[in-house]
Amino acid sequence: MKRYKIAVLPGDGIGPEITREAIKVLRAVERHRPVRFELTEAPFGGRAWFECGAAFPETTQRICDEADAILKGPIGLSHEESRKIPVDQQPERGALLPLRARYQTFANYRPVRLPRELAHFSPLRPEIVGEGIDLVMVRELVGGLYFGPKERGVDEHGLRYVREVLVYDERQIGRILHAAFRLARRRKKRLHNVHKSNVLASSVLWNEVLEEVQADYPDVQVVHVLVDAAATHLCLNPRQFDVMVMENLFGDILSDQGGGILGSLGLMPSACQGPEKSYYEPSHGSAPDIAGKGIANPYSMIGSVAMMLEMSFGMAAEAEAIWRALQAVFADGVTTPDLARGGGRQVTTAEFGDRVVEKLEGLLAASP
Ligand code: NAD
Ligand code: IPM
Ligand code: MN
Repeated sequence: MKRYKIAVLPGDGIGPEITREAIKVLRAVERHRPVRFELTEAPFGGRAWFECGAAFPETTQRICDEADAILKGPIGLSHEESRKIPVDQQPERGALLPLRARYQTFANYRPVRLPRELAHFSPLRPEIVGEGIDLVMVRELVGGLYFGPKERGVDEHGLRYVREVLVYDERQIGRILHAAFRLARRRKKRLHNVHKSNVLASSVLWNEVLEEVQADYPDVQVVHVLVDAAATHLCLNPRQFDVMVMENLFGDILSDQGGGILGSLGLMPSACQGPEKSYYEPSHGSAPDIAGKGIANPYSMIGSVAMMLEMSFGMAAEAEAIWRALQAVFADGVTTPDLARGGGRQVTTAEFGDRVVEKLEGLLAASP
């Protein structure tokens, strides 16, 4: 019997609602495989700040340190709630960025996937979606503007100013590029390098390092694309992309556009890998606009569980079964309200989760 410790951080807003469904899926896997997941829930985010006085409490840090992997729901409060917390302790700066820094989870994989059968969810025309969308954005997650020195003050003219510095060294750039090349090698051997070297010195260094790293992967074709143009290509011809690699802020913005071309951020899971520890989270936020209504799409969180099984626990077959179960639920003509534009019967978060579990149990039982 294999045993894994998972730190579960339900987070804010829709976080607890979609985490509940993800846990149901883990329990379903346990019923059909010789594996036990020891789940320890811990406070993290805005609610944690109000309830424990810290967005990333020490007890939670310890639970994460001891875990084999971390499953994290979205964090974040509405604009009004956030303003009640000192800026540096708000959940994004006080919990999420420290989590990423603590485990140096530099490689963020954000799959943007829409099988042909689900093409009707996309706001793009059918002829653009074609046989479906299947690309992965590889986002550098612990460098750049997010983590550079910051300063705020009043200058000699009495004007308020900020200085926010974008820092990357060649080691940081090299390791994310290697990660992207390795993924490209396992897929279609095509890597889109997204940059802004026509303006940013950081992109010039990035591209220099890329040329050096590229020598190790002669079988992978590199296509250079400026980040602004990449945004357009994603809408007009997403099928040209397979693996895309980019720095932190570019990846933040383009990956949300990824959710846009699929039809909902609710379809965006992710994996954040560090040298020793990885954590898994939806790409989207806490969706305060729909929190507490039981209508959030748990696909992103359940998909993050699939990524965890594959990448942290070597359970690729079970991960694949989860993806197939998710598609099978949609294939029955059932969906959550965020994807209602595609038609179908709308169900709640919990009902969607139950249906995934039912499909998954069938698949796991059929191939023991
Ligand atoms: P958001 O991603 O929370 O929501 C954007 C839109 O997408 C909303 O209309 C929302 O209802 C919808 N949406 C997102 N996930 C959904 C799901 N699973 N099912 C159905 N609909 C879904 O972005 P926002 O409103 O700009 O941010 C809210 C908060 O989340 C902010 O505090 C932000 O900082 C935080 N945030 C956290 C993370 C994270 O924890 N990794 C990521 C992004 C944003
Ligand atoms: C994401 C989020 C975070 C980011 C925020 C909440 C700090 O938007 O994971 O995409 O900008 O990285
Ligand atoms: Mn984001």
